[in-house]
Amino acid sequence: MNVLITGAGRGLGFELAKLAAARGHAVAACVRDIGRVGDGLAELAERYRGLVRIETLDVSDETQARALAAKLRDDGFAIDALVSNAGVLLGRGEGIASLELDDLKRTFEVNLYGPLIVAKHLTPLMRESRSGAEIVVHVGSDAGSFAGAYGGDYPYALSKIALSMFTKQLNEELKPRGIRALAVHPGWIRTDMGGQSAPLSPAESALGIIDLIEGTTAVPAETWFVDYAGRAMPV
Ligand SMILES: NC(=O)c1ccc[n+]([C@@H]2O[C@H](COP(=O)([O-])OP(=O)(O)OC[C@H]3O[C@@H](n4cnc5c(N)ncnc54)[C@H](OP(=O)(O)O)[C@@H]3O)[C@@H](O)[C@H]2O)c1
Repeated sequence: MNVLITGAGRGLGFELAKLAAARGHAVAACVRDIGRVGDGLAELAERYRGLVRIETLDVSDETQARALAAKLRDDGFAIDALVSNAGVLLGRGEGIASLELDDLKRTFEVNLYGPLIVAKHLTPLMRESRSGAEIVVHVGSDAGSFAGAYGGDYPYALSKIALSMFTKQLNEELKPRGIRALAVHPGWIRTDMGGQSAPLSPAESALGIIDLIEGTTAVPAETWFVDYAGRAMPV
């Protein structure tokens, strides 16, 4: 499969790129700043030369998304799995009186408009599916549901619940093309965002998500919100 992953320089995105390449998939590993690619991703691209390509994509920049789409089209890189993983967590713990609106706006730019811009410019590069294998994965969160809602996270929770609705909308639109869109809660994972007390390693979460992408873990057709193990998430 050809897999495109945003935010692939570190955290869950990097583990997804690593595992996808190890499973033999061609990977477009997108990073915000190609001049600051960490050793891990640089080594991965070197090790899987010809299979892993590093691309520039700040998901909040539509011009970059348009340019990347044109480049991939020219290269004949048809996408089978489009993984919008990039995300930010800003303004956690702020009450409404001290909330910085800039944190809210930036969070929406990355966590909601990002996947939307990515889908707008890159789903046209996805193959029409005969096998049902084509998939858009939005890395969402249990914060993106009313059932999982907790306090103290205005920007993040609002952006992720909007991402859940965007995923549902996109799923409906893409269905006739044989492409499904899934919002996936990756679990609480040990990354810069999740912190070191998290119970799950990013590698374990990535394993579950790649199994979802490959279809090894089956998800019923009507389901569009699951966790990394494919368990249906409450909305
Ligand atoms: N960690 C958890 O426990 C947890 C739980 C639920 C959901 N999630 C979700 O899982 C996803 C991955 O999180 P993580 O834990 O791996 O976070 P992380 O360690 O903080 O990594 C975030 C990634 O997003 C990238 N990114 C941020 N802004 C970007 C932009 N404008 N354009 C492109 N890339 C950008 C970062 O790139 P730079 O290196 O350039 O900053 C980095 O690669 C996120 O969507 C997050 O909301 C995480």
